[in-house]
Amino acid sequence: MEHLYEKAQESAEYIKAHTTKRPKIAVVLGSGLGNLTADFTEAEELLYKDIPNFPVSTVAGHKGALLAGKLGEKEVYALEGRFHFYEGYSMKEVCYPFYVLKLLGVEQVVLTNACGGINREFAPGTLMLLTDFINMMGTNPDMTEPYSLELRNLAKQTADELGISYKEGVYLGFMGPCYETAAEIRAFAGMGADAVGMSTVPETMVCNYLGMKVLAVSCITNMATGIQTVKHSHARVLEIANRAGETLCRWLGAVIQKMEG
Ligand code: HPA
Repeated sequence: MEHLYEKAQESAEYIKAHTTKRPKIAVVLGSGLGNLTADFTEAEELLYKDIPNFPVSTVAGHKGALLAGKLGEKEVYALEGRFHFYEGYSMKEVCYPFYVLKLLGVEQVVLTNACGGINREFAPGTLMLLTDFINMMGTNPDMTEPYSLELRNLAKQTADELGISYKEGVYLGFMGPCYETAAEIRAFAGMGADAVGMSTVPETMVCNYLGMKVLAVSCITNMATGIQTVKHSHARVLEIANRAGETLCRWLGAVIQKMEG
């Protein structure tokens, strides 16, 4: 992707011209976790395919639209559908929407994803607040506090107020699209990973690089290979994500009300 800045500028101009809201908060909705937008009011929707220079997502369970609307009292952008490295996009393309969000004035980003549990104390349906990540996807710049401690504390306090149970853990990003082998999962457990997925890490790095604070929550949709005895199924992943997604939406909706912006 050449002339990234000019392209991102063109995307941002299009979005500004076709929406009236100017949110400072953006939420990325992972596989099967799109319910949050049902709570949006005054929503203006732009399809990725209509936004100049925007990549288009191809995975089932990902809609491919940007929404500008209100969630409670807060103006929020929602990205329904993300771009995965395994789909054949370059890391620049995977992270492209975040350059655009930065140009639109976004200061805080909430990432969600579906992933496999490695920590045996987790079960499918568990929501995991990310404390850190392990990058098994590529290069890794300085990431002292990839997930904002302030936002994590806000999320924990809100979960306690709402009686929502959650775990905290380390997310390991693996390229995909194949699920991992049992031996890889044993190795990752030894490295300190609590969960494994195919997204979130590149976006976290770019948001940090661009100076946007990040909060991320995973939905454990299955136990990782070798820990669960049944074969993986993307349909099952979506089913669990949809179910746990209701709680996730209630949680993040409340957290967002307390975020600046
Ligand atoms: N591994 C990697 N990515 C995933 C998984 C998994 O077990 N489940 C959902 N996304």
